[in-house]
Amino acid sequence: METLIAYMTTHGCTERIAQQIAGQMSGKVELCNLKTHPSPDLSAYKRVIVGGSIHAGQIQKQVKAFCRQSAAQLREKELGLFVSCLYEGEVARQQLQAAFPPELLLHAKCAVWLGGAFDFEKMNFWERWMVKKVAHIQGSASMVDPEAVDRFARKMDRSCSPFLFLI
Ligand SMILES: Cc1cc2nc3c(=O)[nH]c(=O)nc-3n(C[C@H](O)[C@H](O)[C@H](O)COP(=O)(O)O)c2cc1C
Repeated sequence: METLIAYMTTHGCTERIAQQIAGQMSGKVELCNLKTHPSPDLSAYKRVIVGGSIHAGQIQKQVKAFCRQSAAQLREKELGLFVSCLYEGEVARQQLQAAFPPELLLHAKCAVWLGGAFDFEKMNFWERWMVKKVAHIQGSASMVDPEAVDRFARKMDRSCSPFLFLI
């Protein structure tokens, strides 16, 4: 099955997660950075994974625009959704719910948060200041959960067949 992973990254973490997911999937997998390719042609793919990162409570506008413009097509795909973010638990769940349209969350085979990372070298002065003040993090660090990334990839990789129960 052919898979497209469409993602948006601000400082590189979501791109690394997208690459890790791609490395775990069988079949042909293509990556699409929504910043440079905001309107990928979805017709060739049966499976689409959409991911972005949370900044000040919101996913990037490019992810929102892609989901809005492609909602009808995405509802016909085997769909996976993920966010990269610092928070966990209830806050992460709320951020995930706000990141994607309700009908896509309902349709998705899997929708998860996978942790986040801070790359101080890629942040501007205000971003560094905010991260230090709000998250109390003083330098580059990764809180991505690699096992959660693998679990998500494995779950997405399992085929949905109405005849599976016969096996
Ligand atoms: C300026 C700034 C604001 C952030 N705001 C949030 C936030 O509101 N909620 C959250 O869970 N994570 C927040 N984060 C953490 C990012 O979601 C996390 O670093 C993520 O891995 C970034 O992914 P990217 O490198 O692909 O952009 C913030 C990070 C930065 C630098």
